[in-house]
Amino acid sequence: MATTFDGQRERYNSVARALHWILAVLIIGNLAGGLLHDALEGVIEVIPLHKATGILILALTVFRIMWRLTTRPPPLPGHVRGAERVGAQAAHVGLYTLMLLLPITGWIFSSAGKWPIGFYGLFDVPKLPFTKGDPIVGAAHEGHEILGWVFLALIVLHVAAALRHHFILKDNVLRRMA
Ligand code: HEM
Ligand code: HEM
Repeated sequence: MATTFDGQRERYNSVARALHWILAVLIIGNLAGGLLHDALEGVIEVIPLHKATGILILALTVFRIMWRLTTRPPPLPGHVRGAERVGAQAAHVGLYTLMLLLPITGWIFSSAGKWPIGFYGLFDVPKLPFTKGDPIVGAAHEGHEILGWVFLALIVLHVAAALRHHFILKDNVLRRMA
């Protein structure tokens, strides 16, 4: 069993850690809200909250990516090599991409709808210049649903990988983000 503990005291910085966990909660909540909004119809109005939280996720993700590009992440343990290292990086790029694409597709097709895109009752988010007949609106709507499932699958994989590192490989990968 690999038990390399190089770099074990190094963690992601506090801003990166805070953004990771705040966004994880918001994204899991928004995925659940999106997937369950039909089932919850008549119980609670999910979509206005879903849209506002999606826009918040987009803003925090843009900030998080800028933060990530300008600060150094801690090194991975030395035993994470080759295909595993590349796979982890590809999964992270995939997660960031979906963190942008889900809100952007939602914003595009909701802009063509008749309802405003409110931000928790504070103000209305400006609508993008698209109307119902535009091909991009249909594609964005379709894409939003399909990418939602892809996102869910990638998150399950990501969490499984984190738990494998912690409980099976017993390395410091999860502690670097805790
Ligand atoms: C990370 C952010 C987001 C995630 C993970 C997400 C996820 C989802 C999912 C999984 C669905 C269900 C798809 C379906 O079954 O049709 C959904 C529906 C929906 N989303 Fe999002 N969404 C996000 C952001 C947004 C944003 C920013 C908006 C608009 C400003 C938005 C507007 C909507 C609307 C209006 C629906 C209902 C669509 C329908 O019933 O046809 N979403 N979302
Ligand atoms: C919606 C849920 C989540 C999303 C979107 C997400 C996204 C991400 C992203 C994009 C990174 C890459 C950080 C970087 O830029 O280097 C990351 C790292 C990490 N995440 Fe998550 N995460 C989620 C939930 C979780 C959960 C629930 C756990 C723990 C069980 C977790 C554990 C980790 C760990 C340990 C790292 C560091 C991995 C490394 O250093 O290579 N994440 N996460």
